Order: sequence, then structure tokens, then C-alpha cells
Amino acid sequence: MTERPFALNLPALSLSLRVLFTGYLLVVSVGLLMSGLQILLTHGMADGKLGLSKDDIVYSYYGNRSDSRLAAKLDGTMSDKANTADKAAIIKWVESGSPEPVWDSQIGAVFASNCVKCHGTIPGLADFRSYAGVEPYAAIDEGASIHSLTRVSHIHLFGIAFIFFFVCIIFSLAVGLPSWLKALLIGTPFAFLLIDILAWWLTKWFPSFAFLTMIGGFAYNAASGLMIVTALYQMWVMPLRGRSSQENTWARLPPVA
Ligand code: HEC
Repeated sequence: MTERPFALNLPALSLSLRVLFTGYLLVVSVGLLMSGLQILLTHGMADGKLGLSKDDIVYSYYGNRSDSRLAAKLDGTMSDKANTADKAAIIKWVESGSPEPVWDSQIGAVFASNCVKCHGTIPGLADFRSYAGVEPYAAIDEGASIHSLTRVSHIHLFGIAFIFFFVCIIFSLAVGLPSWLKALLIGTPFAFLLIDILAWWLTKWFPSFAFLTMIGGFAYNAASGLMIVTALYQMWVMPLRGRSSQENTWARLPPVA
């Protein structure tokens, strides 16, 4: 019996490792889809229209500084919730600095008749029954707070780095690709993860950086998608077609002939 050389690569993996890696990659793929969906539904709606646009990103991180949240919503998804006169009254009040005496004498009643049937009864919605509940939404919208940015940034960095680490380590076992290309694909998600987070912070102060968060998110999703598809193909389709490789993908030097 001849001894077979040890080959560390995707098509050569045992069935149990292939099942383990496949399970992980499939769950991560569904996770990536869900996070895309979630971004569409939260940030994507920030400008009042479905679909992620540059304005959504600007509104989420920089805010809409010409406007308050209240005025923006009355112009967006809440525009059908009051008649023109009532909307104008609210906006005029907001623009005059949302004074409390005017709330008591006039604006409180406008909210009570138009808004409170949802905002005050539906849990999770902003509560507009009192001045204290409305006032934060009448302030100039400055987007994400430093507090929420630091929180979301560190969760994102730790969590996503973890996900990418395992996707990339599985992909590092792929055969038949030039090593520079593999290295590039493996480096891409980490580089763009950093760029993405940096872009959130830059957008908070300079709205023109919004495009960078879109590029960042797109690039790391594209790179991980490519790695996942390649890995699945090499683990399952290549062995089925009887294609194997002697490549030791984790060694730096090419195997001696
Ligand atoms: C039929 C129910 C309903 C009524 C009536 C209603 N809203 Fe809303 N409002 C919602 C829902 C649902 C959301 C969350 C989805 C969204 O942002 O579009 C919301 C969100 C908002 C937000 C954003 C709050 C946030 O957390 O960012 C503002 C501001 C707002 N509404 C203002 C108003 C005003 C002002 C009125 C009255 C003129 C009003 N709404 C009437 C259902 C309602």
C-alpha cells in the first residue's frame, strides 16, 4: 500500500469537516442576508423612502440638520397623518424653537387630535401625549449620538471580525487560486470593515463621507459572498467530479515535486 501525501485543502477534507464548514457558511450567509434586510428596513427608511440611498446614511449618522425629526417625518411617512393646516402649525412651532407655552395653548391639541391615537397607545412608538415626549423630536436632528456610535462600532468590530475570521480561514484552504488573489480576498473584508466603521464616524461630522459606508458594506459582503461560494463549490462539487488536489494550502512554499 502506497502512502498518500498529506494534502490540506477543501476538496480533500473529511466528510465531517465539510459538513461542519458548510453548516457554518450557510448560517453566516443567511445572517448576511438578514443584516442586509435589516439595514434596508431601518436605515433604508430614514429618508422616508424604501431602499438604501446616500440620504438614508446621511440622515442616520449626520442627521438632517436643516430639519427636526418631527418636520422630516411630517414631510415623509407621517405626511398623511394630519391636514395641511395642522402640519403647517406644527412645523411653524418647531421652527420657532418649540416653546412650551404654545404647546399648552395650541399645539398639544393638534397632536392630541392627529397623532396620539398611535403615538401614546402603540408600544414602541414615540409617545406624543406630553410636551416632554415631543420635545426631543422637535430638536434639530443631529443623527447618531457619540454614545450610540461607540456602542454599535465595538459590537460591529468584534462581532463581524469573528464571522469573517472563520469564513476566511475556511477559504484559505481553497485550491487552484494564485496566492496573491487569495490573500487579497481574505484581506478585503477586514480592510473594509475598518473603512465602514471609520466612515460612520466621518459621516457624523461630514455628510459627504456617506458614500464610503455604502462602498464598505458592499465590498465586504461581495468578498465574503465570493469566498463562501468558492468554498462550497470546492468542498462538494469538486470531489463529486473526481477532482482532487495535492496542494497544501497552508504551506508557504510550493510542494517539492
Ligand atoms: C396610524 C398611526 C400613526 C399616526 C396617526 C401617526 N403616526 Fe407617527 N409613526 C407611526 C409609525 C408606525 C411610526 C414608525 C414608522 C415610521 O417612522 O414611519 C411613526 C413614526 C413617527 C416619527 C418618528 C419617530 C422616531 O422614533 O424617529 C415621528 C416624528 C412621527 N411619527 C410623527 C407623527 C406626527 C407628528 C403625527 C401626527 C400628525 C403622527 N406621527 C401620527 C404611526 C403613526
